[in-house]
Amino acid sequence: MRVLLTGGAGFIGRHVLGELLKRGHDVCVMDSLRPDVHRDANAWKPPAGVEFHVADMRDRDALDRAVVGNDAVIHLAAKVGLGVDVGDMPDYASTNDAGTAELLAAMARANVMRLTLASSMVVYGEGLGRCPEHGAVTPAPRNAASLAAGKFEPPCPVCGRRLETALVCENAPLDPRNAYASSKVAQEYYAANWARSTGGAVAALRYHNVYGPGMPRDTPYAGVAAIFTSALRRGEAPKVFEDGRQRRDFVHVRDVASATVIACENHNTGMRAFNVGSGTPRTVGEMAAALAQALNGHRPQVTGQFRLGDVRHITADSSRLRAELKWTPRVDFADGMMELARQ
Ligand code: UD1
Repeated sequence: MRVLLTGGAGFIGRHVLGELLKRGHDVCVMDSLRPDVHRDANAWKPPAGVEFHVADMRDRDALDRAVVGNDAVIHLAAKVGLGVDVGDMPDYASTNDAGTAELLAAMARANVMRLTLASSMVVYGEGLGRCPEHGAVTPAPRNAASLAAGKFEPPCPVCGRRLETALVCENAPLDPRNAYASSKVAQEYYAANWARSTGGAVAALRYHNVYGPGMPRDTPYAGVAAIFTSALRRGEAPKVFEDGRQRRDFVHVRDVASATVIACENHNTGMRAFNVGSGTPRTVGEMAAALAQALNGHRPQVTGQFRLGDVRHITADSSRLRAELKWTPRVDFADGMMELARQ
């Protein structure tokens, strides 16, 4: 296939590009090289034979030039980050919502009918909890007062009891709680509209916490694994927020790349969402300990600090992707953390 890969110069994009080429596809990359991500716009060049358009998704003419002649699009270009600053809302809405709307319109003009969209687990908000009395419930949001008092577990919204964690399936209600999450939900909704109107196919991949070689460090986009690695390299202890028992599913970027390319190659009808996680959730404390051990560094320090807006646990059920698209994650957690530590 000939595939347009947007955001191909980014952390996940470079791995997806490598996977596409490995599997014999022709690739055209479009990336704006945003200065907040790419401090040096000349630092990355695509491999030989890959057409490269340096352009913003909202540039209609550039989009038309990049989209035409492709069999499919993988859309990763986006403003990422935590999305908690209300002042950033216009940038999320413009870059992510409007950029995606422009892409969909350009695909319709060029009759390109397959889209693989990078979405995120943040679309589920606090996800799901299981109450001994009320079953599966949406945990109540956590407020500053209870977090400051060290009450980190969000209670049952009905009776206030402690919840067990439940895995989130794709049909769980969407509950975006920040600007980034809202823009990911908007992208999914625009893509679903486009699929219905044009007969196109969309696979929306809800990525979990992606880590691995090339992860951004020391930028607003740095995820916790990169932050801990940088601290350990400076000879400092990784600072683990809350009590360190918050759970995430850390999924390796090569597994994310293979999921993305498999979805692009195989999903060919209607709109379908897929969670992309390793299937083995870990606590943030465990992850810090694994990195500290790999780097022979200071033991993690559990600080009790918190970031208002962080979700407590978010763990996916990724069985749909395994069953329907025959995807299998291959990188073991300990090996992946060791590789990250050594890069
Ligand atoms: C991350 C991604 C988000 C993605 C989501 C998917 C980043 C910056 N965010 O959000 O784009 O949509 O996964 O599930 O990559 N923590 C510490 N110490 C620190 C920093 C963070 O303990 O110095 C804790 C946080 O409190 C949180 C956890 O680590 O509990 C994860 O934080 P982070 O890596 O920022 O990711 P998410 O909020 O899960």
